[in-house]
Amino acid sequence: MPATVVVGGFFGDEGKGKIISYLALKDKPQIVVRGGVGPNAGHTFVLDGQVHKVRMLPSAVLNKECRLMIGAGVVINPEILLNEISRHNVQDRLFIDRQCGVIESSHIDRDKADDLKGRIGTTGSGTGPANSDRALRTLHMASELKELSPYLGDVSNAVNFALDRMEKVLVEGTQGTFLSLYHGSYPYVTSKDVTASAICADIGLGPTRVDDVMLVFKAYVTRVGAGLLQNELSKEEAQKRGWFEVATVTGRERRAAPFNFDLAKRAIMLNGATQLAVTKLDIAFPECAHIRQYDKLSEAAKNFIQQIENATGLKVTVVGTGEDVYDTVDRRS
Ligand code: IMP
Ligand code: MG
Repeated sequence: MPATVVVGGFFGDEGKGKIISYLALKDKPQIVVRGGVGPNAGHTFVLDGQVHKVRMLPSAVLNKECRLMIGAGVVINPEILLNEISRHNVQDRLFIDRQCGVIESSHIDRDKADDLKGRIGTTGSGTGPANSDRALRTLHMASELKELSPYLGDVSNAVNFALDRMEKVLVEGTQGTFLSLYHGSYPYVTSKDVTASAICADIGLGPTRVDDVMLVFKAYVTRVGAGLLQNELSKEEAQKRGWFEVATVTGRERRAAPFNFDLAKRAIMLNGATQLAVTKLDIAFPECAHIRQYDKLSEAAKNFIQQIENATGLKVTVVGTGEDVYDTVDRRS
């Protein structure tokens, strides 16, 4: 803290939603602000058996005290957003930047057309065509929509002013490093850069104001859509290991591979990471399920964490050992 950015280290679906919701409850930041692309990302978190999913709101709704914000760089689907606002009852504490872009049904149609969906395997949520219209300067802004007017604000100003007052700000990234339009496996990428610098630019936070970049890895690698996945396992092998997953937004099957140390090191470089989180340790090491103290993890699991730390030179400060937000080993401080 005070300004911590959380981003994904692989191809999205690293479990950022769980990490953000944990940090939001534990560190009690005054603001949790979402950057990234838009409703193509689905973040999931579970508390006391209740499953929550968000595609537009920051994954911090469980902390009832903090202000939730969406940065200007994000493109909004108003229907999905308004739905989430009422479902999570955050009318009085959600702020979206006036300059957020707006996804229209024509963007979704274009995204679902064979070219993008077939060639790239996009989520079909309209984010790519909306961003292409933004580049053409034809995209509508949130400030033009009456139904969004109660929530409009100047998010960059609010975030920077909060930091001036020494408040804590948690910045939520979406997607993952290798889905970056600039640094990922082009053309099988999303429609924007999604590394830490870009997430900060989305919300209008300058690089000198950031204190920590937490990079989130899953204990194995998954990828949806097309594009290279090194050491990809067969579906049968993924199922056998318990690594087989189905995507939150699209319901598509995720391809799986073992943890990739070369990708991890490159992601650390691209994001300027200062600390690491590893999620789903319990899936790779079932004996670690629900453990919340580092000492109680199995030797094999601790060796794996150690191996990551040795290879990267960074500390794994937060480890996920189960679905629940509090199934977390916290090694900070
Ligand atoms: P788009 O972002 O919908 O344009 O899709 C481009 C590529 O990024 C496709 O391979 C998608 O599956 C992938 N992608 C986009 N958002 C996410 C995400 O949040 N998690 C995982 N993959 C994603
Ligand atoms: Mg996801």
